[in-house]
Amino acid sequence: MTHSDPASPEFWRRRWREGRCGWHKDDVNEKLRRYVGRLSPAPGRRVLVPLCGASLDLGFLADAGFEPVGVEVVEDAVARLFPGAEPDASAGTVHTRDGVTVVCGDFFACDLSPFAPFAAFYDRGALVAIPPRLREAYARRIEELVAKGARGLVVTVAYDGPADVGPPFSVPAAEIERLFGGAFEVEVLESVPDASMPGSFADHGVTNFSEGAYLLTRRGS
Ligand SMILES: C[S@@+](CC[C@H](N)C(=O)[O-])C[C@H]1O[C@@H](n2cnc3c(N)ncnc32)[C@H](O)[C@@H]1O
Repeated sequence: MTHSDPASPEFWRRRWREGRCGWHKDDVNEKLRRYVGRLSPAPGRRVLVPLCGASLDLGFLADAGFEPVGVEVVEDAVARLFPGAEPDASAGTVHTRDGVTVVCGDFFACDLSPFAPFAAFYDRGALVAIPPRLREAYARRIEELVAKGARGLVVTVAYDGPADVGPPFSVPAAEIERLFGGAFEVEVLESVPDASMPGSFADHGVTNFSEGAYLLTRRGS
């Protein structure tokens, strides 16, 4: 695992340090706004937000009556959400303000048991951020953390082109079904061509860039 490998926290630390955070938006994700009503969770209101960055979506979820718990490995990102705090991923520090909680740590390894099982989850920019070889582990981790009946909103991108051009990596509908279809019912909410393709992607010959939204419901009761 090298610093040019998005499986490494150092890859992301450098991105945040250098301000190369094209994924970070100054507004709430439009698909979250559109589909937040579909997240109506299993009993409880706790929403897992893996690889949350410094996203405004956390505050939106809190304002909508949920209890978002984000997980983010880069201390600089967590500090953006909690000015004055001293996040430490190696210690798994927990930060809470205005109804938003963020655990600073590696999603694959940190202790989330005090918050599980989650009633819902929200993934925007998480599954598409990790290298394909980590996808199975990611899906199984989500599966073990959420309650039966829990719902998840997953927002991904998909495109044709070289497999190594990401992040964001292409995660088409068939991949969502392959990863989650065993434990979750998968509903395709939308898949639309998206004009906001990262600039460098065109140089790499990427075509057919689209953004998809999926509603996942954990099987069982
Ligand atoms: C593409 S960004 C998306 C952030 C956020 N979801 C959003 O929509 O703005 C991916 C984020 O995941 C974080 N990250 C990467 N690997 C991680 C891991 N193993 N555990 C926790 N956070 C991680 C990165 O630091 C980065 O902030």
